[in-house]
Amino acid sequence: MNKARFSRLGFILAAAGSAVGLGNIWKFPYMTGENGGGAFVLIYLFTITFIGLSLFIAEVLLGKASRNDAVSTFEELAPKNGHIWKYAGFMIFTGLLIFSFYTIVIGWILKYIYVSATSLPLNAKEAGAAFGGMVTTETFTQFAFFNLAFFIIMFILSKGIKQGIEKINLILMPLLIGILLALLLYATTLNGFSQALDFLFVPDWSKVTSTTIIKAVGHAFFTLSVGMGTIMTYAASLNKDANIVRASASVAILDTVIALVAGIVIFSFVFNAGAEPSAGPGLVFISLPTIFSSFGILGNIFSVSFFVALAFAGITSAVSIIEPGVLYMNTRFKISRIKSLVILGFITYGMGTMALLSNVKEYASYVTFGGKGFFDILDFASSSILMPLGGIIIAIFVGYVMQKERVYSLLKDHTNDSIFNLWYFSIKYITPIGVLAIMINELFFK
Ligand code: PHE
Repeated sequence: MNKARFSRLGFILAAAGSAVGLGNIWKFPYMTGENGGGAFVLIYLFTITFIGLSLFIAEVLLGKASRNDAVSTFEELAPKNGHIWKYAGFMIFTGLLIFSFYTIVIGWILKYIYVSATSLPLNAKEAGAAFGGMVTTETFTQFAFFNLAFFIIMFILSKGIKQGIEKINLILMPLLIGILLALLLYATTLNGFSQALDFLFVPDWSKVTSTTIIKAVGHAFFTLSVGMGTIMTYAASLNKDANIVRASASVAILDTVIALVAGIVIFSFVFNAGAEPSAGPGLVFISLPTIFSSFGILGNIFSVSFFVALAFAGITSAVSIIEPGVLYMNTRFKISRIKSLVILGFITYGMGTMALLSNVKEYASYVTFGGKGFFDILDFASSSILMPLGGIIIAIFVGYVMQKERVYSLLKDHTNDSIFNLWYFSIKYITPIGVLAIMINELFFK
């Protein structure tokens, strides 16, 4: 059993802190840029509303009902065959894959706080060369910043739910929102602002392929942190009187608004400078610093603020990615928090190092499998396969394995019957069938 408890605001902030991360500010804009803009955004919004939020509610409900780690949750809440269902809980290990590459990106961000404060690149060519150079040749610098990110996150985690996770979110989330809003306010004054709105909200369906759809769906999972037990684990520390539906909806709305605001800010700057929206993972590292550099010292301030906000968002998510594993080892094997962190830390540090080297030219061939670098494998396996798979399992568990009366009794005080029915329909039919169809199409028919 899990004894530490979040305060009500603490849970919402921590869950929002988990959801709002690099997915919103780094990944969402570049994926939108690569996948044609408005149409991608619409599919993503649709998936968040009908699949992501439903699963989020399901995870909170499961965690709150069992108050236990994810493996025990499936084991205890299954009406029968708990000894088999407990294996569903192994979705928590998806977190190890995500954590490994996530920390590398946080390392890049920390380096860019330094770059922003000292010397911003003067043009896109220079910026592209600087970012590309860092990723593909600067093994030592990258490794140093990866270590810094890794140990900051481990330090916070070592302090536990209340003193570590809740506290850091209480401070960093409002700061992140403040910085983003200030940047948005400034973006409205730029010429690129209306172009950014068009790009994000006017869909061009000719750009949509089945890959666009799976990417949007995978990203909806990633951005809400669902399908791998993180939300379930946080909900195990939820206080008794919290409203599951309201808390979940607040987090989903906040997460979506922040992604859209980040998108508007970034594309306003990008279009203003006539830069390319489809720059890929380098988008925020290449376009933004170049654009900021034309503002003189003000640009340095903007740039530092932006990367600090991004680092905050990343750190509050990173702590949630590995927490399911910690709670699992802690409750099932009585391994202390610190020892669990050391064990999980070893694994993720090892995989992180491999992922980092897979981007470095000199070593890439050693850590490339089937034509894909280890970094990309971790990203693809987690967002496009493991999280959607975890989502399907959760939907089947709540929709078919648990009795409807039980599920209803857990939710009835939190919502009215029509919302319950809509949610139940989504969990039973839309989520498992929709996600499975998309995955099969992507994996076997392409
Ligand atoms: N939701 C986080 C983001 O958008 C990533 C994440 C995935 C966090 C899975 C926890 C679990 O960056």
